[in-house]
Amino acid sequence: MHIYTDPKELQRQCLFWRREGLRVGLVPTMGYFHAGHLALMDCARKQCDRLVVTLFVNPVQFGAGEDLDKYPHDFDGDKDKAESKKVDALFVPMSRDMYAPDHATWVEVPELATHLCGASRPIHFRGVCTVVAKLFMLTQPNVAVFGQKDWQQLAIIRRMVRDLDIPVEIVGHEIVREADGLALSSRNTYLTEEERAAAPAIRQGLLKLADKVRGGERDADKAAAFLAEEYARTLPMGRPDYITLVDPDGIRPVKAIEGPVLAAVAIQMGKARLIDNILIEV
Ligand code: PAJ
Repeated sequence: MHIYTDPKELQRQCLFWRREGLRVGLVPTMGYFHAGHLALMDCARKQCDRLVVTLFVNPVQFGAGEDLDKYPHDFDGDKDKAESKKVDALFVPMSRDMYAPDHATWVEVPELATHLCGASRPIHFRGVCTVVAKLFMLTQPNVAVFGQKDWQQLAIIRRMVRDLDIPVEIVGHEIVREADGLALSSRNTYLTEEERAAAPAIRQGLLKLADKVRGGERDADKAAAFLAEEYARTLPMGRPDYITLVDPDGIRPVKAIEGPVLAAVAIQMGKARLIDNILIEV
C-alpha cells in the first residue's frame, strides 16, 4: 500500500492506472475506520483492480460549532486496517493542499439538501459535494462506494454524478450494525456508557415504524408522531433533531405513503448526533 499526501501525485498514479486499462475503485472516508468503512472497502475491492481509499476530515463540510476539531482519529490503526483490506493507495491530504486560500468553486445540489441533515447543517452537503467531486477528479474512479447510513449524502452524490455526467458508477452499501442494531459510526465513540446502552432503541423504533407502515399506516405525519412517542418512551436521553419520512430519491417529505419511503432520524445523544434510516417498501 502506498500512502499519498500530494493530490497531484495521486492523480498522476490514477491516470496511469486508467491508461493501463485498470479499473479504479474509490472509497472516500474521514477515517477512524470501523467495520462499516471496511465493508465498503471489501465491496469496492471486488469491483476494481486498484483500490483507492481517501482519509480526509473535510473542513468545509463542518459548520461552526460542529465537531471538526474533535473528530476522532487513529492514523496508525487506520493504516493497518487499510493494509489488511489490500488497499493500493491511501490518500491522506493536508487541508491546505486540497483547498487553496482563494478556493472559490463549489458544487451544490440544493434541492436534495433542504430536508433531513441539510436542514440542520446548511453548508454540509455543499462541502461534501465539493470534496467528493474533487476526489473523483483526483482518482478517476470507475466505481465509488458509499454507505446507505448517510442515505441523503448517497442520493445527493448520485444526483451530482448524473447531472454533471461524471463517468463513475456509484454503489450504495447497506448499513453495517453492531450486534444490538446500533449503526456503526466514528461518532459512537462520543457516547457515554449509559448512552451507548440506550442507543439501540434508535434502530428498534425504526423497525417498529416499518411494521406499522407495512400494517397499513399511510399517513406519514402520524407515522412520524408514532416514532416520536416511541423514542420519548424508550430513549428519554435522546433529543430528536428530525424524524421524517421522505421519498428515497428526491429526499422530499411525503404526506401519504404510496410507494417506497425512507424513514430517517437524527438523534442527539449527549455529545453525539446519531443518524439512522430504514427503507420501507409498501
Ligand atoms: P465517513 O463518515 O467517514 O463515512 C465514509 C463512508 O462510510 C460513507 O460513505 C458512509 O456512508 C459510510 N459509512 C459510515 N458508517 C457506515 C455504516 N455503519 N454502514 C455502512 N456504511 C457506513 O461520509 C463521510 O465520511 C464524508 O462525508 C465523505 C463522503 C468522506 C466526504 O467527506
